[in-house]
Amino acid sequence: MSTESTPLQSSAVINEAVQTLRDGGLVAFPTETVYGLGADAKNPEAIKKVFASKGRPSTHPLIVHVAAPDKFDQDQIDWVSVLAPWARDISESALKLIAAFWPGPLTLVFNKDKSVPSEATGGQDTVAIRAPAHPMTQDLLRKFKGGIVGPSANRFGKVSPTSASDVRNEFEGMLDLMVLDGGDCEVGIESTIIDLSSGDKPVLLRPGAITPSEILAKTGIQVYQPGEIKKTEEEAALPRVSGSLRAHYAPTTPLRLYAPGRVLDALSEFPDIKSRVAVAVWDSESSLVLEDHPSIDVEEVIVSSDSAAFASRLYRSLRDLDQQAWDLILFPEPPAGEEWDGVRDRLQRACFGSGPSSSSHASS
Ligand code: TXA
Ligand code: MG
Repeated sequence: MSTESTPLQSSAVINEAVQTLRDGGLVAFPTETVYGLGADAKNPEAIKKVFASKGRPSTHPLIVHVAAPDKFDQDQIDWVSVLAPWARDISESALKLIAAFWPGPLTLVFNKDKSVPSEATGGQDTVAIRAPAHPMTQDLLRKFKGGIVGPSANRFGKVSPTSASDVRNEFEGMLDLMVLDGGDCEVGIESTIIDLSSGDKPVLLRPGAITPSEILAKTGIQVYQPGEIKKTEEEAALPRVSGSLRAHYAPTTPLRLYAPGRVLDALSEFPDIKSRVAVAVWDSESSLVLEDHPSIDVEEVIVSSDSAAFASRLYRSLRDLDQQAWDLILFPEPPAGEEWDGVRDRLQRACFGSGPSSSSHASS
């Protein structure tokens, strides 16, 4: 959400979006993370349209976006009544997390209220909820007076959109979609997801900009990695986080990571001569010299060595590079460290799913 580039969307446009949602239609909306493909979270037929438009399997649950009440004093917000139509068993820890991070890029998974349509939760008895920080979408949510389901507004398995024109390109010719233009997304990768449904231990389901260390520092709450918690076989079989597929967020151009200083090794993995290769290089590093490969036309793309700045540009770069007909895209392996976990997760899945057959990978 870059305020400078945010085109002001008139209240007439927001009213039209509200009406479209009430009529069971779809509206793409900006958030601080990525753009979402929105529908009324209590309308099963509208929710089905979201799955059909994305080509997403109906068992992959959606996030319900809720409004943050417009209070000058954040401590005055009664989050329990905001959550009442959606979630049960809201613990003290949940309220602490909410007070520290909402509105913002943190999604919490609760046991669901029985009124939440099973279409939204992929048939599961839990529901994922977040209050996004983008002012335009907060305005939309307040006027709509309901929850909006919103997966990232991309075809299933593809790169998530971080601008209104990305969304339009994604569904061009397929779907006549109302897209609210809120400028470029600031965070650039999807929200951190924490599962609170087991009651005792919060579990990290998807890494994002908000890290377990930041959560511990701000709330004193310890978040566990999924591997640290025992699951029943039945639980382990559920497709809880679609981003947990090995292939996701994928461009159609082959994408690989290279270890520090090892661009040539990554190229040798592709013995067929690659004539046009785009190589992302840290802004902190000197230029590449590839004298051994005179036949390869290498273009360097500078990427930020600050994790937040890198994340904010990641999908933009992948989309732009994907449009430029490179034979191969190389990105540097993100360094160790929790602040890189979200980016590393997205890049690894993007690599795995990349290439001309990316859609068949992604849905397998
Ligand atoms: O930043 C975001 O979270 C963006 C913006 C638009 O809010 N949304 C987003 O939605 O990334 P989507 O559908 O692309 O990813 C939502 C993730 C999925 O991986 C889904 O499996 C997981 O949330 N999820 C949803 N409900 C869940 C539940 N009840 N239990 C566990 N995971 C759930
Ligand atoms: Mg997504």
